[in-house]
Amino acid sequence: MELELKGITKRFPGVLANDRVNLTIRSGEVLGLLGENGAGKTTLMNILYGLYTATDGDILIDGEVQDLKTPGDAIAAGIGMVHQHFMLVPVFTVAENVVLGVEPTKAAGILDMQEARRDVREISAKYGLEVDPDAVIEDLPVGIQQRVEIIKVLFREAEIIVFDEPTAVLTPQEVEEFFGIVRSLREAGKGIVFITHKLDEIREISDRINVLRRGRIVGEADPKEISEEQLAELMVGRPVELVVAKEASKPGDPMLEVEDLIVLDDRNHPNVDGVSFIVRAGEIVGIAGVQGNGQTELVEALTGLRPALSGIVRLAGEDVTDDTPREIHRKSVAHVPEDRQRSGLVLNFTVAENLVLDSYYDQPFSKGIVMDWDLTRGHARKLVEEYDVRTPSIEVEVRNLSGGNQQKVIVAREFSRDVKFTVASQPTRGLDVGSIEYIHEQIVKERDAGGAILIVSTELDEIMALSDRILVMFRGKIVAERRPDETNMTQLGLFMAGVTET
Ligand SMILES: Nc1ncnc2c1ncn2[C@@H]1O[C@H](COP(=O)(O)OP(=O)(O)O)[C@@H](O)[C@H]1O
Ligand SMILES: [Mg+2]
Repeated sequence: MELELKGITKRFPGVLANDRVNLTIRSGEVLGLLGENGAGKTTLMNILYGLYTATDGDILIDGEVQDLKTPGDAIAAGIGMVHQHFMLVPVFTVAENVVLGVEPTKAAGILDMQEARRDVREISAKYGLEVDPDAVIEDLPVGIQQRVEIIKVLFREAEIIVFDEPTAVLTPQEVEEFFGIVRSLREAGKGIVFITHKLDEIREISDRINVLRRGRIVGEADPKEISEEQLAELMVGRPVELVVAKEASKPGDPMLEVEDLIVLDDRNHPNVDGVSFIVRAGEIVGIAGVQGNGQTELVEALTGLRPALSGIVRLAGEDVTDDTPREIHRKSVAHVPEDRQRSGLVLNFTVAENLVLDSYYDQPFSKGIVMDWDLTRGHARKLVEEYDVRTPSIEVEVRNLSGGNQQKVIVAREFSRDVKFTVASQPTRGLDVGSIEYIHEQIVKERDAGGAILIVSTELDEIMALSDRILVMFRGKIVAERRPDETNMTQLGLFMAGVTET
């Protein structure tokens, strides 16, 4: 089967998301679609899947123009899609999810679960997608849920399968397993579209690479011929420094000291379960771990947002365990929170206002202080320029910015404060390579100026690139400590999965 996109254009109000895109996908090959955030990848695939209607252009299958108005049309034409956010029903079993919408029925429309199970087993065996048909979705790790999505697509007899940023949620080991599955799908003659912004992954798995930038295809590349640097330049439109340039750290006095900290989560479960570590002035400590192993609660406890059940947190020698968020903030702590929309920004405030927010949990300007608006605007303009925040103006409400640009607003505000200790959770999630480069530079600069920095990230690349010391968190405990030069991604991935001896 050959699927062709011809001159696809998609206009949203004020945005040209796809601009005359031409793309060909063939059976038995993996097409890598690379592009930074907002390049138009998801939009393009949603058009292919019948979720959006193109403003202009055609979709052809084996030379014939198709009219794909709904996902049902796309499925009937042999196109399957595994979305960025899975669409499974958490309380249903694997088999129930797979057949949902196209249930095999016995006489009189009774759902035939026997047959559904059998179908799941058959597809599992054929493509090496191991999964128990009777397991309930919410009990399964993300990597397995993804397999269920794939089985679902195969059950609908897809010939072309689109994966939208499938590796974003996976551990390194799960990524390898996923690539194994992609290879077996290719072997079976399926055509695969693999969407990502990760340079190493796209080179590893693709047979051909197309690069999308600001809605347009700007290049086609052979993964064997092109380097990561060249790909990054194509994707961003300028040369990018991929390796964080930094000298060896010169750690000074302890700035943050955490002792035997226990913190309960919302269900009163000790999600931080006896954690001790220090971060010194002039060093970057990275906490690696799969999402949900206590990192969130740890950071909340360090910033006063969640009470500690027991243990001590000291900042520059002073006990701050029971301080309020505001007190901690005033003690020269910068915080880039994990959930930017909930706790990093006031969405209906302008970009300028968000950039000068005294703190995000305060109601700013409520104390009768007279603001110097010229100064504020000047400061905001400077930060917008420096951090390349893409916004029509500093007077726009921050809710109208894309996720990546909202993140830049927070990072700009927190990093422009004069602080002693910085804690940043997922500081570059959702950002493009160009912005990641800039933010990493700022973090290193902060360190070199004597700042103590704690980075929490599920991206091992980021942990490896930035950290002077790496701690791995698993089920509420720190299970390993390594310097980046004495470990590697594979070993860290195993620690993250709870393996203690490697
Ligand atoms: N439903 C929509 N309405 C308006 N604008 C949209 C919509 N979906 C996407 N966009 C815009 O189109 C552009 C491309 O977005 P998207 O396709 O999601 O990019 P990518 O998947 O490459 O990150 C972005 O500027 C985005 O804000
Ligand atoms: Mg996308």
